[in-house]
Amino acid sequence: MKALVLAGGKGTRLRPLTHTSAKQLVPVANKPVLFYGLEAIRDAGIRSVGVVIGDTGAEVREAVGDGSRFGLDVTYIPQEAPLGLAHCVLIAREFLRDDPFVMYLGDNFLVGGISGLVDAFHAGRCDARILLTKVAEPQFYGVAEIGPQGEIRGLQEKPECPRSDLAIVGVYTFSPAIHEAVRAIRPSMRGELEITDAIQWLIDNGFRVNSHLVSGYWKDTGRLRDILECNRIVLEQIEPEVAGTVDGLSEVTGRIIVERGAVVENSLLRGPIVVGADTKIISSYVGPFTSIGRGCVVQNAEIEYSIVLDGSSVDGVSRIAHSLIGRNVEVSRAAGVSNTHELMVGDHSKIQVKA
Ligand code: G1P
Repeated sequence: MKALVLAGGKGTRLRPLTHTSAKQLVPVANKPVLFYGLEAIRDAGIRSVGVVIGDTGAEVREAVGDGSRFGLDVTYIPQEAPLGLAHCVLIAREFLRDDPFVMYLGDNFLVGGISGLVDAFHAGRCDARILLTKVAEPQFYGVAEIGPQGEIRGLQEKPECPRSDLAIVGVYTFSPAIHEAVRAIRPSMRGELEITDAIQWLIDNGFRVNSHLVSGYWKDTGRLRDILECNRIVLEQIEPEVAGTVDGLSEVTGRIIVERGAVVENSLLRGPIVVGADTKIISSYVGPFTSIGRGCVVQNAEIEYSIVLDGSSVDGVSRIAHSLIGRNVEVSRAAGVSNTHELMVGDHSKIQVKA
């Protein structure tokens, strides 16, 4: 069995971060979301992984390397434009040969791994096994309609009027029959070859497709609130460890990780939180479900339920919440002017100030 990991695409919903970096590399508890997927693939006993990359390919290559640090053997497959998930299967034909494979969307996050899925796929002798999960807004996903015996009646990609609330999770298992399907389908309204249409083609042409309802936790991390929620889930399970220093004036409750070289002074830390290597937290409050990256400074500030990427500083600002702050960002007070917000913000940023 092989794996095909999709790490291309544009990530428009996480702009401006994704103007400059890959959405699959946004950190969850200070580790890129993509790495959780690669680890799940390894834990399912798979070694040979094709990683489809796009405009941000150089960054993905640098982060993942040859895969050996994950115990994987990685082959990169460049995609010239984001032409759809089924297009990724099309261009990976040579890598995949006639092996069955798991297709894993690099921005998806699945708690509980994929071993169960892989085992059930083999046992079920089917051509595709998909995972479904109940969601509040099915119109933003591929949606499955299920019959009384649990059989799939039909699949639709992002339907205006969904026939169920069962979204297709971005982790699929396929037999080589999928290659015929991806060649047969035509681009959708959004101009992409949809994997949902390819699976529907399998059903229409008498191939065996089955599904399983995911009871564990799943998120497509393409949106801010989903990535913050993922961060919360992972932080809830961290093993506390203080490798940096926390001074006697600081108060710490709950689970915290303070990485090597990090310094916490005169601050209130309410876990679960992770403080990245060489970061300084001074005279501040860091509240639950917050990940602060490496080499950051948080000073005279308050922050909670947020993710701060490497090299950023938050100085003299309270209280930041539900926020995702990119790399090397400075958030500080406007000097000397009252009731003024001074901003220098990149394209497609989103700022919500106190009313
Ligand atoms: C893709 C699939 C969709 C699936 C979703 C899961 O959507 O097309 O069927 O439900 O991933 O994350 P996209 O991320 O391309 O919008």
